[in-house]
Amino acid sequence: MAKKIRLGILGGGGDSLIGVLHRVASFINDNYEIVGGVFNPVWEENIGFAEEIGIPTNRIYIDFDTMVAEELKLPQSERIQVVSILTPNFLHFPMAKKLIDAGFNVICEKPMTTTFEEAKILEAALEKSQTVFALTHTYTGYPMVRQMREMINQGILGNIHKVDAQYYQGWINPIVHDAELRKTTWRLDPEKAGISCCVGDIGVHAFNLIEFTTGLKIKSVLADFNYLYSDNKMDIDATMLVRVSDTVKGIVRSSQVATGEENSLTVAIYGDKAGLRWEQENPNFLYLLTDDKPVQVYKPGHAYNSDLSLDGTKLPPGHPEGIFDSMANIYKGVARAVRGEKYNSGEFPTMHDGVRGMSFIEKSVASHLSGNVWLNIEE
Ligand SMILES: NC(=O)c1ccc[n+]([C@@H]2O[C@H](COP(=O)([O-])OP(=O)(O)OC[C@H]3O[C@@H](n4cnc5c(N)ncnc54)[C@H](O)[C@@H]3O)[C@@H](O)[C@H]2O)c1
Repeated sequence: MAKKIRLGILGGGGDSLIGVLHRVASFINDNYEIVGGVFNPVWEENIGFAEEIGIPTNRIYIDFDTMVAEELKLPQSERIQVVSILTPNFLHFPMAKKLIDAGFNVICEKPMTTTFEEAKILEAALEKSQTVFALTHTYTGYPMVRQMREMINQGILGNIHKVDAQYYQGWINPIVHDAELRKTTWRLDPEKAGISCCVGDIGVHAFNLIEFTTGLKIKSVLADFNYLYSDNKMDIDATMLVRVSDTVKGIVRSSQVATGEENSLTVAIYGDKAGLRWEQENPNFLYLLTDDKPVQVYKPGHAYNSDLSLDGTKLPPGHPEGIFDSMANIYKGVARAVRGEKYNSGEFPTMHDGVRGMSFIEKSVASHLSGNVWLNIEE
């Protein structure tokens, strides 16, 4: 086994949602060792959390700028090699830009930035630095999502004519219906979240899954948002019609007020020969649909799956793996790239996916605000 990769973490403190997913994922395939970072902007909580989870505190820094400055003083052989950015959205761009410019490899949470312009700046910076950059569209790491991509690539669906992805949650209901609580979550604050709540948070995952599984590029979007209250400036429900071409059309549905829904992310792709459907809440089942045969269910770990799918499974069939393993597969791909080993294009979402995602978010907002018009996605 090669030496462990030195990982730094920004955000993801004890108070966060996503921190534990990244920490466990980095551990799963024995590739990384967390050596430092800034878990929280409040020093006592930052250092206290590091102590609580047993990370040596000598490389827990007071803030991001200090971390970069101090790490750059260390010899390459000791310096943090990969930094995971798990902070609220508005910090992704300044952190990623500085890290890329300084030669660090980056794993960044989505949405990649808060604007398309920032995404393009980041793309240019990465081109110069030639470091590794991965965007954690977590769901692309699931073995059955990877299998779906391979089956579509093999032409099993025939000519695709319909794409449909849905991401429904209900968690924001108790917050958005309360005028005081509305002011307390960063996801409803444009200063911290960027121009969109629902599309930026979850709609972009659905968009990404359509493009990841089909290899097609969505060309244009027409959006209709719901804000529910006049003092709420951020979408909490958004429906997007999407077009790949004149004959390939579909829909991206996203909602945070779909009452009672938990993490209902579904992607369904239909062609003239067959359809494929995958649901995140039952991630180990991939349904192959045809007009003339019973539904076929593909499951992880069987030899009939593609190499990319099998690479994302660690245990024999019937041992359910889930979201931690899915994120771990992304970390595994990044480890290969950082070590200069061979890896496949589907192993982790890239800067290019982030640029397209940011255009999707911006164009969806612009479409809604312009009276629900069709707008082209840029890259
Ligand atoms: N890939 C996914 O499926 C997925 C799921 C959830 C969240 N996310 C993304 O992850 C990011 C974080 O979301 P969350 O729900 O964990 O947010 P959160 O509010 O629960 O946690 C944010 C963390 O960042 C820390 N933080 C804030 N400012 C900081 C600073 N200046 N320096 C260091 N740490 C700082 C906070 O202390 C906290 O620990 C968001 O961009 C979100 O879109 C992605």
